[in-house]
Amino acid sequence: MNAHLVIAIDGPAGAGKSVFGAALARALQSLCIDSGIVYRAVTWIALAHGLDPEDDATLSPVASSMNLQIVPPTVQDGRQFTILIDSQDVTWGLRTPEIDRTVSRPSALPGVRRAVTEQLRHLARDTRVVMVGRDIGTVVLPDADVKFYVTANPETRARRRADELQARGQEADVADILRSIIERDTRDSGRATAPLRPAHDAVHLETDNLTIDAEVAFALDVVQRSLRSTTTLETKDV
Ligand code: CDP
Repeated sequence: MNAHLVIAIDGPAGAGKSVFGAALARALQSLCIDSGIVYRAVTWIALAHGLDPEDDATLSPVASSMNLQIVPPTVQDGRQFTILIDSQDVTWGLRTPEIDRTVSRPSALPGVRRAVTEQLRHLARDTRVVMVGRDIGTVVLPDADVKFYVTANPETRARRRADELQARGQEADVADILRSIIERDTRDSGRATAPLRPAHDAVHLETDNLTIDAEVAFALDVVQRSLRSTTTLETKDV
Protein backbone atom coordinates (compact mmCIF):
# COMPACT_ATOMS: atom_id res chain seq x y z
CA MET A 1 0.00 0.00 0.00
CA ASN A 2 1.07 3.56 -0.62
CA ALA A 3 1.99 4.97 2.79
CA HIS A 4 1.99 8.58 1.69
CA LEU A 5 -1.07 8.61 -0.51
CA VAL A 6 -2.24 12.24 -0.60
CA ILE A 7 -5.73 13.19 -1.78
CA ALA A 8 -6.88 16.80 -2.24
CA ILE A 9 -10.57 17.70 -2.32
CA ASP A 10 -11.70 21.21 -3.18
CA GLY A 11 -14.97 22.83 -4.11
CA PRO A 12 -17.50 25.55 -3.27
CA ALA A 13 -19.56 25.94 -0.09
CA GLY A 14 -21.87 23.09 0.81
CA ALA A 15 -20.87 20.89 -2.15
CA GLY A 16 -20.59 17.90 0.18
CA LYS A 17 -16.78 17.88 0.38
CA SER A 18 -16.52 17.24 4.10
CA VAL A 19 -18.80 14.19 4.20
CA PHE A 20 -17.21 12.83 1.02
CA GLY A 21 -13.70 13.49 2.37
CA ALA A 22 -14.45 11.78 5.68
CA ALA A 23 -15.95 8.71 3.96
CA LEU A 24 -13.08 8.46 1.48
CA ALA A 25 -10.54 8.81 4.29
CA ARG A 26 -12.26 5.98 6.19
CA ALA A 27 -12.12 3.76 3.10
CA LEU A 28 -8.44 4.56 2.54
CA GLN A 29 -7.59 4.40 6.25
CA SER A 30 -6.23 7.91 5.95
CA LEU A 31 -6.23 10.93 8.17
CA CYS A 32 -8.92 13.44 7.09
CA ILE A 33 -8.14 17.13 7.52
CA ASP A 34 -10.91 19.65 6.88
CA SER A 35 -9.04 22.92 6.36
CA GLY A 36 -12.26 24.97 6.53
CA ILE A 37 -12.30 24.31 10.28
CA VAL A 38 -9.05 26.26 10.67
CA TYR A 39 -10.38 29.31 8.77
CA ARG A 40 -13.62 29.08 10.73
CA ALA A 41 -11.62 28.97 13.99
CA VAL A 42 -9.70 32.16 13.09
CA THR A 43 -13.04 33.81 12.29
CA TRP A 44 -14.60 32.60 15.56
CA ILE A 45 -11.71 34.11 17.55
CA ALA A 46 -11.97 37.40 15.63
CA LEU A 47 -15.69 37.67 16.37
CA ALA A 48 -15.38 36.52 19.99
CA HIS A 49 -12.70 39.16 20.71
CA GLY A 50 -14.15 41.97 18.60
CA LEU A 51 -11.17 41.90 16.17
CA ASP A 52 -11.45 43.29 12.66
CA PRO A 53 -11.99 40.24 10.39
CA GLU A 54 -10.03 42.01 7.62
CA ASP A 55 -6.96 42.99 9.68
CA ASP A 56 -4.18 40.69 8.51
CA ALA A 57 -1.59 42.06 10.96
CA THR A 58 -3.84 41.10 13.89
CA LEU A 59 -5.20 37.84 12.56
CA SER A 60 -2.14 36.13 11.09
CA PRO A 61 -0.51 35.75 14.54
CA VAL A 62 -3.88 34.41 15.75
CA ALA A 63 -3.82 31.86 12.93
CA SER A 64 -0.32 30.67 13.73
CA SER A 65 -0.65 30.49 17.51
CA MET A 66 -4.30 29.61 18.28
CA ASN A 67 -4.93 26.58 20.48
CA LEU A 68 -7.20 24.53 18.20
CA GLN A 69 -7.84 20.86 18.98
CA ILE A 70 -9.92 18.27 17.16
CA VAL A 71 -10.74 15.31 19.38
CA PRO A 72 -13.17 12.34 19.32
CA PRO A 73 -16.82 13.35 19.98
CA THR A 74 -17.41 14.37 23.61
CA VAL A 75 -21.21 14.64 23.12
CA GLN A 76 -23.47 12.34 21.10
CA ASP A 77 -25.39 15.01 19.19
CA GLY A 78 -24.60 14.07 15.62
CA ARG A 79 -21.09 15.53 15.59
CA GLN A 80 -18.26 13.52 14.01
CA PHE A 81 -15.66 15.06 16.33
CA THR A 82 -15.38 17.78 18.93
CA ILE A 83 -13.54 21.01 18.14
CA LEU A 84 -11.97 22.95 21.00
CA ILE A 85 -10.48 26.44 21.06
CA ASP A 86 -8.64 27.03 24.35
CA SER A 87 -10.57 24.04 25.73
CA GLN A 88 -13.96 25.61 24.86
CA ASP A 89 -16.27 23.40 22.78
CA VAL A 90 -16.86 25.34 19.54
CA THR A 91 -17.99 22.39 17.40
CA TRP A 92 -21.33 23.98 16.46
CA GLY A 93 -20.14 27.51 17.19
CA LEU A 94 -17.99 27.29 14.04
CA ARG A 95 -21.06 26.50 11.91
CA THR A 96 -23.36 29.42 12.70
CA PRO A 97 -24.78 31.67 9.96
CA GLU A 98 -22.65 34.52 11.39
CA ILE A 99 -19.44 32.53 10.86
CA ASP A 100 -20.70 31.49 7.40
CA ARG A 101 -21.24 35.15 6.52
CA THR A 102 -17.84 36.30 7.84
CA VAL A 103 -15.38 33.46 7.20
CA SER A 104 -14.41 34.38 3.66
CA ARG A 105 -13.00 37.74 4.90
CA PRO A 106 -10.18 36.43 7.14
CA SER A 107 -9.70 33.67 4.55
CA ALA A 108 -8.77 36.25 1.92
CA LEU A 109 -5.87 37.67 3.99
CA PRO A 110 -2.43 36.61 2.67
CA GLY A 111 -0.78 36.40 6.12
CA VAL A 112 -3.61 34.29 7.53
CA ARG A 113 -3.41 31.98 4.52
CA ARG A 114 0.36 31.64 4.85
CA ALA A 115 0.05 30.68 8.52
CA VAL A 116 -2.75 28.18 7.90
CA THR A 117 -1.08 26.65 4.83
CA GLU A 118 2.12 26.05 6.78
CA GLN A 119 0.23 24.25 9.54
CA LEU A 120 -1.78 22.16 7.08
CA ARG A 121 1.38 21.04 5.26
CA HIS A 122 2.94 20.14 8.59
CA LEU A 123 -0.09 18.04 9.57
CA ALA A 124 -0.02 16.24 6.22
CA ARG A 125 3.68 15.42 6.32
CA ASP A 126 4.60 11.74 6.23
CA THR A 127 1.06 10.44 6.42
CA ARG A 128 -1.78 9.12 4.28
CA VAL A 129 -4.11 12.04 4.11
CA VAL A 130 -7.33 13.29 2.58
CA MET A 131 -7.40 17.09 2.86
CA VAL A 132 -10.51 19.13 2.12
CA GLY A 133 -10.75 22.85 1.29
CA ARG A 134 -10.63 25.48 -1.44
CA ASP A 135 -6.95 25.62 -2.44
CA ILE A 136 -5.64 22.21 -1.44
CA GLY A 137 -4.94 20.93 -4.97
CA THR A 138 -3.74 24.31 -6.23
CA VAL A 139 -1.67 25.70 -3.34
CA VAL A 140 -1.45 23.63 -0.15
CA LEU A 141 -0.66 20.21 -1.65
CA PRO A 142 -0.04 20.79 -5.37
CA ASP A 143 1.75 17.42 -5.62
CA ALA A 144 -1.22 15.46 -4.28
CA ASP A 145 -1.55 12.01 -5.89
CA VAL A 146 -5.21 12.57 -6.75
CA LYS A 147 -7.27 15.78 -6.76
CA PHE A 148 -11.04 16.03 -6.77
CA TYR A 149 -13.11 19.14 -7.43
CA VAL A 150 -16.55 18.58 -5.93
CA THR A 151 -19.54 20.63 -7.04
CA ALA A 152 -23.34 20.65 -6.87
CA ASN A 153 -25.78 23.25 -8.07
CA PRO A 154 -26.35 26.16 -5.66
CA GLU A 155 -29.95 25.13 -4.84
CA THR A 156 -28.83 21.63 -3.82
CA ARG A 157 -26.08 23.11 -1.70
CA ALA A 158 -28.43 25.56 0.06
CA ARG A 159 -30.95 22.79 0.70
CA ARG A 160 -28.25 20.56 2.24
CA ARG A 161 -27.05 23.36 4.51
CA ALA A 162 -30.66 24.05 5.57
CA ASP A 163 -31.17 20.35 6.35
CA GLU A 164 -28.01 20.35 8.48
CA LEU A 165 -29.19 23.37 10.49
CA GLN A 166 -32.68 21.94 10.92
CA ALA A 167 -31.26 18.61 12.07
CA ARG A 168 -29.63 20.58 14.90
CA GLY A 169 -32.97 22.22 15.75
CA GLN A 170 -32.07 25.59 14.21
CA GLU A 171 -34.18 27.71 11.92
CA ALA A 172 -33.08 27.77 8.32
CA ASP A 173 -34.35 29.85 5.46
CA VAL A 174 -33.24 28.28 2.18
CA ALA A 175 -33.38 31.60 0.28
CA ASP A 176 -31.13 33.32 2.88
CA ILE A 177 -28.71 30.41 2.86
CA LEU A 178 -28.60 30.42 -0.94
CA ARG A 179 -27.72 34.14 -0.90
CA SER A 180 -25.03 33.58 1.72
CA ILE A 181 -23.53 30.64 -0.20
CA ILE A 182 -23.40 32.58 -3.46
CA GLU A 183 -21.78 35.56 -1.72
CA ARG A 184 -19.19 33.30 -0.09
CA ASP A 185 -18.41 31.54 -3.40
CA THR A 186 -17.98 34.92 -5.09
CA ARG A 187 -15.55 36.13 -2.42
CA ASP A 188 -13.67 32.79 -2.29
CA SER A 189 -13.27 32.67 -6.08
CA GLY A 190 -12.56 36.39 -6.50
CA ARG A 191 -9.80 36.84 -3.93
CA ALA A 192 -6.23 37.51 -5.06
CA THR A 193 -4.55 34.90 -2.84
CA ALA A 194 -5.32 31.22 -3.43
CA PRO A 195 -8.77 31.68 -5.00
CA LEU A 196 -11.22 28.81 -5.21
CA ARG A 197 -10.70 27.11 -8.56
CA PRO A 198 -10.16 23.58 -9.80
CA ALA A 199 -6.56 22.45 -10.18
CA HIS A 200 -5.80 21.75 -13.86
CA ASP A 201 -5.40 18.07 -13.03
CA ALA A 202 -8.44 17.73 -10.76
CA VAL A 203 -11.12 15.12 -11.41
CA HIS A 204 -14.54 16.80 -11.32
CA LEU A 205 -17.31 15.22 -9.29
CA GLU A 206 -20.88 16.55 -9.41
CA THR A 207 -22.73 15.36 -6.34
CA ASP A 208 -26.33 16.54 -7.01
CA ASN A 209 -27.64 13.06 -7.68
CA LEU A 210 -25.02 10.85 -6.05
CA THR A 211 -25.09 8.98 -2.77
CA ILE A 212 -21.99 9.09 -0.58
CA ASP A 213 -21.40 5.40 -1.31
CA ALA A 214 -21.45 6.10 -5.06
CA GLU A 215 -19.06 9.04 -4.63
CA VAL A 216 -16.63 6.92 -2.63
CA ALA A 217 -16.82 4.02 -5.12
CA PHE A 218 -16.10 6.44 -7.97
CA ALA A 219 -13.22 8.05 -6.06
CA LEU A 220 -11.64 4.71 -5.14
CA ASP A 221 -11.72 3.75 -8.79
CA VAL A 222 -9.99 7.01 -9.76
CA VAL A 223 -7.37 6.55 -7.02
CA GLN A 224 -6.73 2.96 -8.08
CA ARG A 225 -6.24 3.95 -11.73
CA SER A 226 -4.00 6.86 -10.89
CA LEU A 227 -1.67 4.65 -8.90
CA ARG A 228 -1.15 2.82 -12.24
CA SER A 229 1.86 0.84 -11.12
CA THR A 230 1.71 -2.52 -9.41
CA THR A 231 0.69 -0.93 -6.14
CA THR A 232 -2.39 -2.49 -4.60
CA LEU A 233 -4.75 -0.18 -2.84
CA GLU A 234 -5.95 -1.51 0.50
CA THR A 235 -9.37 -0.20 1.41
CA LYS A 236 -11.88 -0.75 4.14
CA ASP A 237 -15.69 -0.96 3.83
CA VAL A 238 -17.34 2.28 5.02
O1 CDP B 1 -18.38 23.55 4.70
P1 CDP B 1 -18.31 24.66 3.71
O2 CDP B 1 -18.01 24.20 2.32
O3 CDP B 1 -19.48 25.59 3.76
O4 CDP B 1 -17.12 25.61 4.16
P2 CDP B 1 -15.71 25.23 4.77
O5 CDP B 1 -15.03 24.21 3.92
O6 CDP B 1 -15.84 24.98 6.22
O7 CDP B 1 -14.89 26.59 4.53
C1 CDP B 1 -15.30 27.79 5.15
C2 CDP B 1 -14.58 28.95 4.48
O8 CDP B 1 -13.19 28.87 4.78
C3 CDP B 1 -14.65 29.03 2.97
O9 CDP B 1 -15.82 29.69 2.51
C4 CDP B 1 -13.39 29.82 2.63
O10 CDP B 1 -13.60 31.20 2.78
C5 CDP B 1 -12.43 29.36 3.69
N1 CDP B 1 -11.50 28.32 3.23
C6 CDP B 1 -10.42 28.70 2.44
O11 CDP B 1 -10.31 29.87 2.09
N2 CDP B 1 -9.49 27.79 2.06
C7 CDP B 1 -9.59 26.51 2.44
N3 CDP B 1 -8.63 25.64 2.07
C8 CDP B 1 -10.70 26.08 3.21
C9 CDP B 1 -11.65 27.01 3.59
